[in-house]
Amino acid sequence: MKKSILLLLMVLLYQPIFAQKKIWDETEAEKTKRLEWWTNDRFGMFIHWGTYALAGRHEWVKKNERIPDSEYQKYFDNFNPDLYNPTEWAKMAKAAGMKYAVITSKHHEGFTLFDSKFTDYKVTNTPYGKDALKEWVDAFRAEGLKIGFYYSLIDWHHPKYTIDRVHPQSVTTKEEYDAINKDRDMSVYREYLKNQVREILTNYGKIDILWLDFSFPGEFGKGRDDWGSVELMKMVRKLQPEILVNDRADLKDYAGGWDFTTPEQFKVPFWPTYEGKKIPWETCQTFSGSWGYYRDEYTWKDTKQLLVLLIESVSKGGNLLLNVGPTGRGTIDYRAQNALADMGDWMKVNNRSVYGCTQAPETFAVPDNCILTYNPKTNRLYIHLLDYPLQNFTLPGYKGKVKYAQFLHDASEIKISAPRGHWVEQNLAENDINLSLPVNKPPVEIPVIELILED
Ligand code: GLC
Repeated sequence: MKKSILLLLMVLLYQPIFAQKKIWDETEAEKTKRLEWWTNDRFGMFIHWGTYALAGRHEWVKKNERIPDSEYQKYFDNFNPDLYNPTEWAKMAKAAGMKYAVITSKHHEGFTLFDSKFTDYKVTNTPYGKDALKEWVDAFRAEGLKIGFYYSLIDWHHPKYTIDRVHPQSVTTKEEYDAINKDRDMSVYREYLKNQVREILTNYGKIDILWLDFSFPGEFGKGRDDWGSVELMKMVRKLQPEILVNDRADLKDYAGGWDFTTPEQFKVPFWPTYEGKKIPWETCQTFSGSWGYYRDEYTWKDTKQLLVLLIESVSKGGNLLLNVGPTGRGTIDYRAQNALADMGDWMKVNNRSVYGCTQAPETFAVPDNCILTYNPKTNRLYIHLLDYPLQNFTLPGYKGKVKYAQFLHDASEIKISAPRGHWVEQNLAENDINLSLPVNKPPVEIPVIELILED
């Protein structure tokens, strides 16, 4: 008897602790459904745009050069993107094969691209004078792209936001932090951030993605308690129940606290997992080293690298969010425009190996210098030829699995036939098949073979 009362007490006591770990109730199947469009679309545009575009040397310029507010103000005072035409941006994204876009509604500098009731440090108070976010949403939606807002949890302008180790005014010792923060108060900032997230999720219609950035717990850092992440996320889910949220609000251990993970500027070696399970993921990457416009930065990736980034992400079950940093005039850098156009040329005829595709079943061996993707609905396998082979192309262990083979870009048949040259013939193992490729590499950056598989 006593034992059972004790047990009951324990259960009652522990319940709130367990309950806290949940933002909302949703089954695995419901989550998969909610993410379906995104998992299918695979390719999006990231846009970093703020007053840092005027400095033209990284969106972290305020921190990197420890610029005080008074001096940074010139970028605000001169923000007037007279050539801003979000319809053009949307058309570029679409032509590149991108299906969704995420823009910085506010970055770490604290400047808002939207008309907020809670600050004066906003686009409508610059010489530009208009709600640039509103114009962006209308334009991108009109082009049929899904809409996402990046919102920086970090804020280098709000007077009550406490100075931390990534702040432009960062110091070193605890005593110094105590002194510099004595008039600052995160509870005030917490309200502010919640109010602004409410604004962007209320005033612009249906928002498909919320991209919060970022937590850095630990000494002189910030995490969920500083942001009020639990309350914030509950509000987000209530305001936009279908929205997708990234994983940077420090809520990894909360059900409903995040939807996908965000490996940044590196290629994952395999499909990322959490607690042993494969999870939705999206890598965010730049065309060159910086997110915000950087005039004198020269590490631009070439078309093949960019396409491989996309294909490889899909081959591991993930998405690619590729960034542009528009200029202070509101234009997209010519190098990014060229790269987008080149990707578009490829996507136009090859996107079937991207949309709706994922990691190929392990039963298909990966031939040398190739990347595989697979569409489970159509049961087609895509072989991306990174290094175009000379005529004989062996598919190891594929015998009996392939009904028909063709190039994807022009639907021309590729013959499944004995390899040329008896040396090669002898080397073909019993379960291998050979494809006879034309000598000339087809006129696409990365040729794709589409295999229609046996049921
Ligand atoms: C980092 C940077 C930031 C950029 C972001 C994109 O968190 O702080 O400048 O916006 O990554 O993923």
